Amino acid sequence: MSYAKVLSAGLVGLAGHPVEVEADLAAGLPAVALSGLPDTALHEARDRVRAAIVNSGESWPNRRITVNLLPATLPKFGSGFDVAIALALLAGAGELPLAPLQGVAVLGELGLDGTVRPVRGVLPMVAAAAGAGVARVVVPVANAREAALVPGLRVRAADTLHRLIAYVRDGAPLLEPPEAPPGNEAAGLDLADVSGQLLGRRALEVAAAGGHHLALIGPPGAGKTMLAERLPSILPELDDETSLEVTSVHSIAGTLPPGAPLLRRPPFQAPHHTTSVAALVGGGSGLARPGSLSLAHHGVLFLDECPEFSARALDALRQPLEHGTVLIARSRGTTKYPARIQLVIAANPCPCAKPGGKQFCECAPAVRRRYLGRLSGPLLDRIDVQVNLPPLSAAELLAGGTPNEPSGPVAERVAKARAAAAARWSEGGWRTNARVPGAVLRRSPWRLPNRDTTGLRRLMDSGELSARGFDRVLRLAWTIADLDGRSRPDASDLGEATMLRTGSRP
Ligand SMILES: Nc1ncnc2c1ncn2[C@@H]1O[C@H](COP(=O)(O)OP(=O)(O)OP(=O)(O)O)[C@@H](O)[C@H]1O
Ligand SMILES: [Mg+2]
Ligand SMILES: [Zn+2]
Repeated sequence: MSYAKVLSAGLVGLAGHPVEVEADLAAGLPAVALSGLPDTALHEARDRVRAAIVNSGESWPNRRITVNLLPATLPKFGSGFDVAIALALLAGAGELPLAPLQGVAVLGELGLDGTVRPVRGVLPMVAAAAGAGVARVVVPVANAREAALVPGLRVRAADTLHRLIAYVRDGAPLLEPPEAPPGNEAAGLDLADVSGQLLGRRALEVAAAGGHHLALIGPPGAGKTMLAERLPSILPELDDETSLEVTSVHSIAGTLPPGAPLLRRPPFQAPHHTTSVAALVGGGSGLARPGSLSLAHHGVLFLDECPEFSARALDALRQPLEHGTVLIARSRGTTKYPARIQLVIAANPCPCAKPGGKQFCECAPAVRRRYLGRLSGPLLDRIDVQVNLPPLSAAELLAGGTPNEPSGPVAERVAKARAAAAARWSEGGWRTNARVPGAVLRRSPWRLPNRDTTGLRRLMDSGELSARGFDRVLRLAWTIADLDGRSRPDASDLGEATMLRTGSRP
């Protein structure tokens, strides 16, 4: 026998794909050729595989070796095919029986000493293998628990190539995935820590309930960062489908917590304003690393001190905000990752950043306008809730007697409001008010009576509200009604919605 085939898997964007690794050994000058669209990392695989085989006590077949990865049209990145290549080679050389590898997908990078190293993206790759009918997988130990998240699959782990060889040759046992420790997703930050700031709290709750983007504008120390960091604490848990999606993105990024890999809480990403565009949107050589934008998929992307971000960074957010996906340009084609995020930005109203607020500001009015104006084109226009927080007074901070409302009850109101919205828009397939097209809200049967929209129409006619702003106020009004358990917004909801939309005006 001088031919063998071993199953593995690769990735295109977030989607895993089964890959077959074939090895053919022929008489002739000793050489190794790799084919099937391999990238540079795959060429390095040749050297790693050779060293790992030799250092595992096996002899390297001194023949003309051809390794081919199928399907040839699928772009392949990274080092996750090493182990499959090594096994295909040894089996092709007649050193290993083929039967124990039938129907088993194998993933893992090899160290020169023969250790099996973890790879990124195991969850979506293993899920794809399972989807293609594979019932058994062997993965690196550090990825075993992640692979075990895929239902209906027998997962075994290997720490060394030597152990895998012993398994194939003699039926020696592989390692079991370690037991998952009891759920330990950190009990996060809580709104109970936030004193006063009723407007900020309301804005946060409305944003959470409707899935609206949120801008918190206010002087230093008002609690903008505090509030933003507590948004996930009032958002509902991810359902099974979104949880798997989010976990897959983090699997590809290599940022899954080793303990309990399945992510159930909406993620929160807060890239620093000095973050590179690549770190924000994703990039890197080999298997593209998802950026903060994709790591925040189905969760919150928080841009603190937003005006300090580079114009390029802010500009790079525009398309993904619109489409819910981000395209990463590569030397060979593009990689697409999901990026359905809730954006929260925080900003001081002006560059002088005086703690006391407006009355202590030293900036010329033109400077103030320009500062936030940097955001207006690309971002502010897309943000439904924009509030101007007042400075926190000592009385508010010290208010004894009445405790601040904690996140728990707020999260309950948010969940109810979201359920009402999802039920209402189920026909259109929108899950939150923020996603409903303006035209739908302006048409029967959802159009609100003229007598309720008088104030709003006046704002538009006087040029204070754009058409886009008009629709955003409508969306907010629906969320406010949902939070209040009413089936339709009334004039007072529209009033509050207008206030929540126009707060960032200097
Ligand atoms: N509403 C609040 N309730 C309780 N503590 C607060 C509140 N606001 C601010 N603080 C205190 O002030 C600190 C700074 O708050 P935070 O960082 O949220 O302010 P900020 O508005 O983001 O300010 P900056 O513009 O300087 O970033 C907090 O760590 C907290 O100790
Ligand atoms: Mg802050
Ligand atoms: Zn100022």
